[in-house]
Amino acid sequence: MNRKERILRVLLLPVILAGLFIQSSCEKYAWAKEEIPEDLVVSYSQDIFPFCQGCHGSWSIEKTYDKLYANVDTVNPASSRVLSIHSSITSFGSTMIQIDTVLISAPDMIMLWASQGALNN
Ligand code: HEC
Repeated sequence: MNRKERILRVLLLPVILAGLFIQSSCEKYAWAKEEIPEDLVVSYSQDIFPFCQGCHGSWSIEKTYDKLYANVDTVNPASSRVLSIHSSITSFGSTMIQIDTVLISAPDMIMLWASQGALNN
């Protein structure tokens, strides 16, 4: 092996290792996202309100609850109006929220909360 090859190897190794590392962290992320435990309880005040507040900063916690409650379907959470209102806002759907040890998308969080009765909890 000549000098040039040896230098190339030394330079390429970290690149390959970094690639492997990024790939494995993506796998972990996908895995964490799929695992939504059935007993995960969503809290309106702790989990949902801070998310809404990020954009609707002028709404009080009560006003936000009233607006949200008026726009969720507890029987069929996927057809909640709050989801269609924001469907053109990419960051609404792509925001991930951590509840306990679970990472869940904002729409999934809202649907889960609606299925749990849309409580002011
Ligand atoms: C990423 C920013 C963003 C987040 C997060 C967000 N909204 Fe909105 N929301 C908007 C924007 C922008 C509009 C304006 C759409 C329009 O009226 O043209 C809107 C409109 C609305 C409307 C209809 C207009 C009105 O005043 O009644 C409701 C209801 C609403 N949002 C509730 C919520 C609730 C509840 C949450 C939390 C679950 C939330 N939003 C989170 C950006 C956001």
